[in-house]
Parts: sequence; C-alpha cells; structure tokens
Amino acid sequence: MRLWHSSCRLLILCIAVYIASSFSSLAAAAPISSSFEDNFDTECAKSHFKTSSDGQEWYLYLDKEQGCGFQTKQRYRFGWFSMKLKMVGGDSAGVVTAYYMCSDLGAGKERDELDFEFLGNRTGQPYILQTNVYKSGVGGREMRHSLWFDPTADFHTYSLLWNDHHIVFFVDRVPIRVYKNNGRPNGFFPSEKPMYMFSSIWNADDWATRGGLEKTDWKNAPFMSAYKDFNVEACQWEEPFPACVSTTTENWWDQYDAWSLDGSQQEDFGWVGRNLVVYDYCKDYERYPKLPEECSL
Ligand SMILES: *[C@@H]1O[C@H](CO)[C@@H](O)[C@H](O)[C@H]1NC(C)=O
Repeated sequence: MRLWHSSCRLLILCIAVYIASSFSSLAAAAPISSSFEDNFDTECAKSHFKTSSDGQEWYLYLDKEQGCGFQTKQRYRFGWFSMKLKMVGGDSAGVVTAYYMCSDLGAGKERDELDFEFLGNRTGQPYILQTNVYKSGVGGREMRHSLWFDPTADFHTYSLLWNDHHIVFFVDRVPIRVYKNNGRPNGFFPSEKPMYMFSSIWNADDWATRGGLEKTDWKNAPFMSAYKDFNVEACQWEEPFPACVSTTTENWWDQYDAWSLDGSQQEDFGWVGRNLVVYDYCKDYERYPKLPEECSL
C-alpha cells in the first residue's frame, strides 16, 4: 500500500514545536481545549484548510494540486484519542482520509503507527474503513471493515484506546478492532514510542478503491473532509523527563478496567466480527503462510 510513504510527513514542523516546548511542566491528562490552533499544526496551503465561523469545525480540502493535513503539537504515550469526522461525500473514489497516530521519524527511528483510513468510493457505493498497526516501520497488519452507516452523511466518532495491554479501534464507541499485547518484549506491539495524532486527505487512486481500478474524478474536486470535537485524555510526553513511563499513573485508560473489553463491548465486538469484517490479515494465508505471532493472541 502506497499510503505509508506520505504518512508522517508533517513531522519536521512538529519536531521544532516539540523542542520549543521541551521544558514545560509534566502534564498528564491535561484538559484539552477544542481550539484548533491550540492543539494542532497544519501543513497545507491556506486555501486547503478552513474552519467554520465559530471555529468548532475544521475542513481539509484535496484538489489535483494538493491535499492537506494536520497533526497535534503534542506527543502522547497511552491514552484515549477521539474525534468526530465526516467523510467526503458524493463520488469520492480514489480519495483517502487518513486519521492516525504516528511516532517521530527522526534519525534512525523506525516509526510506530496506528491508522484509520477511510477509502472513498463511487457515489452510492459503500466506504471501507481500513485499520493498520505499524511497529518499528513494519506494518502489513490491515483489517478492513464496512460500516453500519454512511460516514459521509453525518459526523461519527472515531477513537483509539492505547495502553500497554491492548490497542482498541472504536467507531461510535463500538470496538471494531482489538490488537493485543502479550506482556513480553515483542516485535509487534507499539508501546515505547510516543505518538502524535494526525489527519490528512489525499489521492490514493493507485490502490484505494476496488484495488485501484476506480480513479479519482477530478471534476468533483475539491474534496472535503470535516472534523470536530477533538478529545484526548492521555499521557503527554515531555522531555527531558519522559513522562508516561510509570505503571502507577492514575489515569483511567491505563487502569485495570481498560485492559480488556467489558461485557457489552465484547458483545458489540462479536457483532462487528460476524457482520462487518471485509478483510483480516490474520486470515490471509496466501499472504502469510505462517501467520504473524500476534494473530494467535
Ligand atoms: C466500493 O464499492 C464496491 C462495489 O460495491 C465494493 O466492491 C468496494 O469494496 C467498495 N470500496 C472500496 C474501497 O473499494
């Protein structure tokens, strides 16, 4: 998948912000205001990023010349990350809206990454939600889901729970994917590196829709994805004293109750598994004759 080349490309700006803010005080679970400027940096032409007049909704645009993206100023290690998104409507074939977390790409560092990717489609055809997990530069852990609603008709909430026990992808509070750790040092579970949260809109018509058969129709440009209600309850990573290393933090996302799904979440998760999974790399024996280690968890 070509996506990965353009992921994480906003980092240079971010590293500068991070260095500038290195010496601010430790802050876990700081309440986050919803102002865009307070939380995010954008990387796009002014013409490709807009907000509603009250500043509560944000819009990213893609045309033939360029897309647009934003990322959090802060890095986090473990927490709850949530936002409402409304996808490009109408004929959106070839267009991908990515919403993801990613670590630094600094010298010699192999990135960790947690992805939601919304693959557009021709008018009236369903979107597909692809998720993926990268550890130290290695991905290839795609799952694909169809959704139980039209993600272009309204805002829906997409969230990540990330602690040392599992990573859970949620859609409107329904867990659609659970990615487990095994409690030992391993090559598949991203847990050491703090990550930024990103979103971007871009053209991926070489692979996204029906495997690249459906091309982006630029007559419909600009394409727009919309955002609101950013919410993060997480451990903010601060240097020179890295926070988030203690296992005793008093934060709900790190506590026992957040180490596994509760009963009703398990029911929802079972329903999703039976009805909405379009692709699961852990069942793709052609691609992985020997399934990756984490598939047995
Ligand atoms: C687009 O619609 C077609 C036809 O319903 C479907 O096969 C495909 O999975 C859909 N999504 C993508 C991303 O190709």
